Amino acid sequence: MNTLVNYQVEAGLALIGLARPPVNALGQPLRAAILEACERAAADPAVQAIILHGARGLFCAGADITEFGSPASFAAPDLPGLLVRLTQIDKPLIAAIGSLALGGGLELALACGYRIGEPKTRVGLPEINLGLLPGAGGTQRLPRLLGAQAALNMMISGQQVGAEQALMLGLLDRVTDSAEGLLDEACAYARELLAIRAPARPADRYANPGIELADDFFASYRAENEPRWKSRLAPRLVLAAVEAACVLPLDQGLARELSLFKQAEDSAQSQALRHVFFAEREAGKVPGVEASTPIRAINKVAVIGAGTMGGGIAMNFANAGIPVMLLEREAEALDRGLAQVRKNYEISVKRGKLSSEQLEQRMALFTGTLDYAEIADADLVIEAVFEKMEIKQQVFRTLDEVCKPGAILASNTSSLDVDAIAAVTRRPQDVIGLHFFSPANVMRLLEVVRGKATAPDVLATTLKIAKRIGKVAVVSGVCFGFIGNRMLEPYNREAHRMVLEGATPAEVDKVLTDLDLNMGVLTMTDLAGVDVNFLVRDANRAAFARDSSYYRIGDELYALGRYGQKTARGFYLYEGRERKEDYEVVALAERIAGELQVQRRPISTQEIHDRCLFMLINEGIQLLDEGIALRSGDIDLVWINGYGFPGHVGGPMHYAEQLGLDKVLAGIEHYRQSLGAYGELWFQPAPLLQRLVAAGKTRIERI
Ligand code: 3HC
Ligand code: NAI
Repeated sequence: MNTLVNYQVEAGLALIGLARPPVNALGQPLRAAILEACERAAADPAVQAIILHGARGLFCAGADITEFGSPASFAAPDLPGLLVRLTQIDKPLIAAIGSLALGGGLELALACGYRIGEPKTRVGLPEINLGLLPGAGGTQRLPRLLGAQAALNMMISGQQVGAEQALMLGLLDRVTDSAEGLLDEACAYARELLAIRAPARPADRYANPGIELADDFFASYRAENEPRWKSRLAPRLVLAAVEAACVLPLDQGLARELSLFKQAEDSAQSQALRHVFFAEREAGKVPGVEASTPIRAINKVAVIGAGTMGGGIAMNFANAGIPVMLLEREAEALDRGLAQVRKNYEISVKRGKLSSEQLEQRMALFTGTLDYAEIADADLVIEAVFEKMEIKQQVFRTLDEVCKPGAILASNTSSLDVDAIAAVTRRPQDVIGLHFFSPANVMRLLEVVRGKATAPDVLATTLKIAKRIGKVAVVSGVCFGFIGNRMLEPYNREAHRMVLEGATPAEVDKVLTDLDLNMGVLTMTDLAGVDVNFLVRDANRAAFARDSSYYRIGDELYALGRYGQKTARGFYLYEGRERKEDYEVVALAERIAGELQVQRRPISTQEIHDRCLFMLINEGIQLLDEGIALRSGDIDLVWINGYGFPGHVGGPMHYAEQLGLDKVLAGIEHYRQSLGAYGELWFQPAPLLQRLVAAGKTRIERI
C-alpha cells in the first residue's frame, strides 16, 4: 500500500486520496503514486468512475517548489505527462477540491473531466509569483474552459478565486453546502454522471478559445502592460502560451507550453522568486520561539499617536476585524487622525476595493480617546508618537502605570534604542519594537525588533499577529536603523556622494530603476522627505563625524527648503506628478564639490551600480555577522517588502550571490583604492564577506 495516496473502491467508484502533508505538493513520489492509483482504477473493471481528493481535506498546492531547478522537477512521471495520461482514461474523473487547488493542483483538477468544490474552496494559478507559468497544461486547458481572456487574467494576476466565483466562471461544476460533505457529494455527482452516461471528459466549452478576441488583442495587451512588467519574463511567457492556446491544436499547444515553462524554470528571475518564497516561510522560524511557546491573546489593540503612522497602523488591525483604540494628546489631532483613516477607506471604496458597508464596519472598530485609563485593558499597545527618546520614554512610563499585566508594549520607532525605551518600564520583557513602513496600511514589511529582554512569548505573539494582519515579519536585533534603514545609509551615502562627484540625480536613479527597483534612492529621498533625512541625521551628528562630505548636499537642500515632493523641489523639480531634473541641484553640487575639493568627472553606470549596490550588500553582510539579521533571506525580505527591491532580482543578498561574492569583494577593494581618502574611509569590506570569499563560499551565511 502506497502511503502517499489512499486507495479505496466503493460501489464502482475509486476514491484516490492524496496524502502528502502538508499541502500535497506534486513531487515525484506523489506523482508516481497518483499515476499508479489511476492506472489501477482504469484497469479495474469494477471501477466506473474515479474521484481524486485530498485525504485530509486540502486538495493540492501545486508542483513541489523544492524540485524546480533540479532533475526531480521532470523525473518520471513528469507532471505534464501524468496529466495527459489522466485525460486519456475512458472513465469519468472527478476532482473533489477541498480548501485549495493552486498551480499544478488546479492543473490536476483541469485534467479531470469534472470538478466539485466546497464553500471555502479557493483555486488559482499563482505560478507567475514564482517567475513561472503554469506548465502542466494550465495555459492550454484553462482557456478552453473559460475563454482566453478570463484564463489570461487568472494567470497574469496569479490571484485566487473563491468557490462562488469559480462556479460562476465554470471552473467548478458544483459547490457543496459544507466541507464535510464534499466526498459524499462527489460520489453522488459521479453516480449522476454515470446514470446519464456522461462522457469521461465533456467537450471543451471554448474549442477555439481566442475566437472572440480582437485581431490585435495580444499585441495591444502586451503594449499596454509591458511598462508595468518592466523586465519580468514570466508575464511575457504566460501571454505567449495563451496566444499558442488560441492558434494551436491542444497537443502542439502543450508542447509550446512545456518549452516556455522550461525557459522560465531555468531563468534567474524564477530562481530569485523561489528563493523569496522559501525566505518568507523561513522568516517565521526564530531561535527561541518554538511551536510550544505560548501565545498571548490579542483581542484589543491600542495605538498611541494618530499621525501618519498611527492611523495606518491602526487600520491594519481594523482590517483584520480587531477593535483598535487611537490615543492622542489633543482632540484636534485625534479628530484629524480618525478623519484621515476614514478618507483612506473612502479611497478604497472609490476604487471598488471596499463596499460602503465594509467601510462603516471597519470604522465601527475604531475608538478614539485622550485618556490613558481607557486603554488599560488593551492586549497590545503600539506607540507611534514623535521620534524623540524623551517623549517615547515618557509614554512608556505611563503605559507601565496603566496597562494590564501581560499587555505587549510595542514601539514603532524607526531608529531609537528599543532597550533604552524598555528600560524605563518595570516590564522590559513585554516591550518590543514593531517597525511599520509608510504607508503602514499598505506596506507589507514589519520589522520586529527583539530587545535584549523581550520574552519569547511576546516575540511569538507578535509574529502570529503580523501574519494575521497580512504582514511579512522579519526579526531584527537592536541597532541604529535596524536592518532596513541601517543598510539604507551607505546606499544613500554613495548616491549623495556621486552627485557631488559628477553624476546627476537622474543618472544615479536610472541605474537603479533599470535594475527594476520601484524608484531610485534619490527619488525615494524626495518622497520620504529631505527634511526627514536631515532631522534624523541632525539628531545623530556624532555617527557622521568621520566624514561630512556626502551629506552636505542633503543639508543644503534642507536649508533651501527643498524638502522633496512635498515642497515640489528636492533633488528634482516636481510639476504635478511629473519629475524633472533641476540644473540648480547640479550647480549646488558643483559649488559644494569645489568647496570640498572633490574632483568632478563623468561617472559610469557601472560605477553607480557598483558603489550603491556593493555598499548596500556589504552592510547587509555586516548585519548578518553581527547577528542583527538572522539570515540573509531575512535581509532580502526587508528590501523587497520595505524598499521596493524587485522580487525577481531576489533582494540584495541573493543578487550578490548571483553576481558572485568574489566580484562584490573585488569591487569594494577597487573603490577602496581608486577613491582616495573617501574610498579608504568607507569602502571597508565586511569581514564576513572576506571570510566567505576566502572559504570559496558562494552563498551568504554566517561562518
Ligand atoms: N511546494 C513545496 N512546498 C510547499 C508548497 C509547494 N507548492 N506549498 C507550500 N509548501 C510548504 C511550505 O514551504 C511550508 O513548508 P514548511 O512548513 O517546511 O516551511 C508548508 O508547505 C506550509 O506552507 P505555508 O507556511 O505557506 O502555509 P500556509 O497555510 O500559510 O499557506 C499555501 C499554504 C497557500 C499553500 C502556500 O504555501 C502557498 O501559496 N504555496 C505555494 C502555492 C503555489 O505557488 N503553487 C504553484 C506551484 S508552481 C506549479 O504548480 C507549477 C506547475 O504549473 C507545473
Ligand atoms: P507624526 O508627526 O505624523 O505623528 C505623531 C503623532 O503623535 C502626532 O499626531 C502627535 O500629536 C502624536 N503624539 C505626540 N506625542 C504624543 C503623546 N505623548 N501621546 C499621544 N500622542 C502623541 O509622526 P509619524 O510620521 O506618524 O511618526 C511616528 C513614529 O513612527 C515615529 O517614531 C517615527 O520615527 C516612526 N516611523 C515613521 C515613519 C514614516 O515614514 N513617517 C516610518 C516608520 C516609522
